[in-house]
Amino acid sequence: MKITVINGNMRYGSTWHCTHEIIEELQKQVQTDVTEFSLPKDMPHFCNGCFSCIYNGEDTCPHNACIKPLVNAMIASDLIILASPVYGFDVSGQMKALIDHLCYMWMSHRPNPEMFQKVGLTVTTSAGAGLRHTTKTMKNSLVFWGIKKVYTFKFPVSAMQWSDVSEHNKAKIKRDARRLAVQISRSVRNSRKSFNPLFRSIFFRMMSGMQKKNDWNKTDRDHWENRGWLTGSRPF
Ligand SMILES: Cc1cc2nc3c(=O)[nH]c(=O)nc-3n(C[C@H](O)[C@H](O)[C@H](O)COP(=O)(O)O)c2cc1C
Repeated sequence: MKITVINGNMRYGSTWHCTHEIIEELQKQVQTDVTEFSLPKDMPHFCNGCFSCIYNGEDTCPHNACIKPLVNAMIASDLIILASPVYGFDVSGQMKALIDHLCYMWMSHRPNPEMFQKVGLTVTTSAGAGLRHTTKTMKNSLVFWGIKKVYTFKFPVSAMQWSDVSEHNKAKIKRDARRLAVQISRSVRNSRKSFNPLFRSIFFRMMSGMQKKNDWNKTDRDHWENRGWLTGSRPF
């Protein structure tokens, strides 16, 4: 199983440890090939809001040199993991900066057909509150990129660092990670066969209708037209 992990901070903290508990559990079931990025080291920029990715293509992003290797790794993976601690009830600023750069590949613009067979996972930890909102921020990106099945792992560790997490909580994290890993590996195994999520089918159809009328962005429209998505073909 090919896995890309994007860590929303640079600490080997609770979020990193939770992510790696899940990966270790996956490794007990399947052979894995893990590519890991950490933010802001691997993508230190904020989105300029220049719209260049949206209007002129993603390769024209001024930060393409950082974004491209990340996207290529995701495209080559079976499982994409977005991991961030809760900062002020949401993802870290560096995670948000990355997902802002990737709005061009939302289904409302130019979804990558490769995304539609992938499995996603969000991982987040907090001292106590904000897990749901933080999960939603990351899950939105995975879902609107077209990813078929998105799992979530969230844990209120009641600690500022991993070494302060209680043994009780560490044992629970291990149990939850084991359970989740079984579900994820089954999902990756079946990802080409299993059902199409209803929400995605409906949303894709809506976006196809929108692109048919699109006379404001030729780059987006061509993306849909060239793949036959305006005349009934589907990437799933
Ligand atoms: C800037 C900052 C903001 C935080 N905001 C919250 C918050 O809104 N809610 C919360 O429960 N914990 C908050 N925390 C605590 C962290 O989410 C928590 O300690 C988390 O497990 C740290 O993850 P890490 O060890 O992977 O860095 C915050 C921590 C920092 C550094």
